[in-house]
Parts: sequence; C-alpha cells; structure tokens
Amino acid sequence: MNPRHLSRGEFLSLTSLLAGSSLLPRPADAAPKSSGKTAATPPSPKPGPAGPAPVQGDRLRRSCRATLTLSSSTDAGTELIRLGEWIRDQSLQSDVYGNSEFIQSFERRVAERLGFEDGCFMSTGTMGQLIALRIYADEGKTRTVGLHPSSHHVLHEDDSHTVLHGLQPVLLCPWSRPVLAGDVRDARERLGMVSVEMPVRWLGGQLPTWEQLEELKRTCRERGVKLHMDGARLWESQPFYGRSYADICRGFDSVYVSFYKMVGALGGAMVVGGKDFIRTARMWRHRHGGNIFQMLPYVASAAMRLDDVLGRIPAYVQRAKSITEALAADSRLVVLPKPVQTNLFRIFLRGDPAAFSRQRDRIAQEDSIWLTNGFSPTRVPGVVETELQVGEGLAGLDDAQAVRAFLRLLEPA
Ligand SMILES: Cc1ncc(COP(=O)(O)O)c(C=O)c1O
Repeated sequence: MNPRHLSRGEFLSLTSLLAGSSLLPRPADAAPKSSGKTAATPPSPKPGPAGPAPVQGDRLRRSCRATLTLSSSTDAGTELIRLGEWIRDQSLQSDVYGNSEFIQSFERRVAERLGFEDGCFMSTGTMGQLIALRIYADEGKTRTVGLHPSSHHVLHEDDSHTVLHGLQPVLLCPWSRPVLAGDVRDARERLGMVSVEMPVRWLGGQLPTWEQLEELKRTCRERGVKLHMDGARLWESQPFYGRSYADICRGFDSVYVSFYKMVGALGGAMVVGGKDFIRTARMWRHRHGGNIFQMLPYVASAAMRLDDVLGRIPAYVQRAKSITEALAADSRLVVLPKPVQTNLFRIFLRGDPAAFSRQRDRIAQEDSIWLTNGFSPTRVPGVVETELQVGEGLAGLDDAQAVRAFLRLLEPA
C-alpha cells in the first residue's frame, strides 16, 4: 500500500474527528440525489499549509500587527543584525564544521535538559530523524519502522526513509489518535523501531496521556523495539504533562527537537541520545552532506532564544485554552482537540478554501490581523481545516479581540 493513500478506515477516522458536529451532514442530508450514480470519492486532502505562504500573501502577513500563527513579522535584516550583536556580545568565534566549544556546550545543554548524554545539531529535522532510524535499522534485525499515518516521514519526505535507507513503514493506528502501546503489540509486522510524533501536528497537537505514554515506553522496551520521538513541537507539550522535559523523554532511545518552529530560530534541529548513538549520528550527518562549514549562525540563533521561549510556553497554552473555549461556543466551527493540549490547534469550517483565503486577506487589510497561513480541504466534502498556534504574534491583542477577528471569517463576503 502506498502509505500516502488513505484507506477507507483512515478516511472514516478522519470524519470521526468531526463526529457529532454540525459540520457533518445528517444522514438524510447526505443521501445522494437520485441520479442513480454512486457518489464520487472526495479527493485526497493535500497535506495542509505546511509550506511557506506565497510571496504576495507573505507581504500582507508581514504587514500585520498580530497573528494567530507562529509566523514572524520581523524583517530578515533586523533579525540578522540582532543575531550578529548577540554573537558579538558573547564574544563567539566561527566554528569549522561545528567544531567549537560554544556549539558543543549548546549540544550538551540541550541533551541534558532532555535527559540524554549528548546531542548533535542537525541542519534539518528531516535529516536528523532519518539518521536516527538508519542507526537503529543497522543495529537491529529488521528495517521496519512503526509510524502514525500522519507522520512527517509518511506525508512530507518523498519516501526518503525507504529510498535512502531501505526502511519499511508500518502504519500503526488510525489517523484520529496518537500511537498507543496496543498498536505496537498488535502491529501486523515485527517492528525494529517506532517513531512517535509528540504532539501530533495533524491532530491539532494531541498527546497521549501520561499513563498511555509510560505504557508505550514500557511496551517498546519489553519487545526490544527502539523508540524515537519526533519532538518537532515537544517544547509545547510540557504544560500538558506538568513534568520536566527529561521526565517526558525518559524511556525514549532518542529524541529530535526543532529550533525554528516554536523557538523561532533561523533553522536547524537537534537529535539527542546516548554517547555512542550520537557519535554514530555525527558520522551519518557527514555522510548525508549535512555538515555546514559554519554552523554558528544557526546554533547561535537557537541558543539566543531557547530559554526565553520555553519560559513563555505555559502562558501561550493558557491563552490557547481560553481562545478555543470561546471559539468552540460557535456551532459553525469545530475545534480540535477539545480541550486543547498545547498552544496548537486545528479548526474545521464549512466553506470553500479559496473564499476563506480571500476573506482572510480582507481581514488582514482591514484589521491588520493575520489569521492563518491557509485552508485545506478535508475528506468530508465542503469542510475545510486550518491550523492556528498561539505565540508572541498575539501579544498585541486580548483573547476577545483574537476570537472576534477569527469569527469575521464567517461573515458574508
Ligand atoms: C512533525 C515534524 N517532523 C519533522 C519535521 C522536519 O523538520 P525540518 O523542516 O527541520 O526538516 C517537521 C517539519 O515541519 C515536522 O512538522
């Protein structure tokens, strides 16, 4: 099976995300008009607004005073000047291929925070995670990797895990929930490793409960299955568990975190794990051509922001709770998940993606508020989804203003 093609079961679980909502047609409304023909299968949803906004929209977005997404409105020159001044103030010197006391100590500092022995800075999370899985495949007897159907490997990497590393994906569970221990026990093939995304972006940032997480870790350990975390948005998960990052990560064999998403750095990621694992990961980074001659700008951009951003996340999650509670009171939309678990969430609306985008641009021009980077169709005909995330971009608005701005999308054009 091509893992990008959703099975009927997965389609049904997607629609179950909307179960009970006024967005789903009642059975009588859904009955085909008596043409005698079978209703056409709705087209596959294109995986959402993952990429950059088009250039014209980008200019409009940057001109806004507030945003309900993570996008920054700071211009590139100002950002680089700030970074340069920070580097000068710290008296940092350039590295050669990542060899510098500053970079190595940042790698150790992040690893320690996550409860691991060492870390390796990676220019992209995509590469870092492929490396982690490749190391496990070479160590073990099987190249099967258990994944969520919405994982980055499945949706956004052009099958690189198979093409480059001969890994065989095994989709472990329906789209509608995170991977659980039972999925590992019941997997249809023997698993060499499992990679779980925490939180799951395509489920609006959902996480397993603490008990489910601990059971998953235990099950993998007992079965000798390596457990890797796609922690692209792990930073945002800490308030949900109310535990340290090291507690959350304990029991994983390796974890990847991103520096450009919530943290807002220029780019880059880190993979953390045991000392030997990281030594091997460095060799694979070289093999992938992932050693940048001077890593300093990327690493410094992450180091300059990390502690400050992590300190703000609990307040962002709190605001996401209050905003989504107010939005969910409107029956024309559905918020996922309910209640929110991080500062990330998805909203489902009935309408046309292009019309919503025009309305978003109108609101941006009139109110100077950028609501979202895009609207994607779902498998439920006529229902679209969009992703929002609370961050510093909302600093200039109170919650009621943010809600009012979003609901303007539903006003007649
Ligand atoms: C869940 C998840 N994993 C991995 C990645 C890969 O990160 P990068 O863009 O650094 O390759 C992304 C990027 O969007 C992601 O969302």
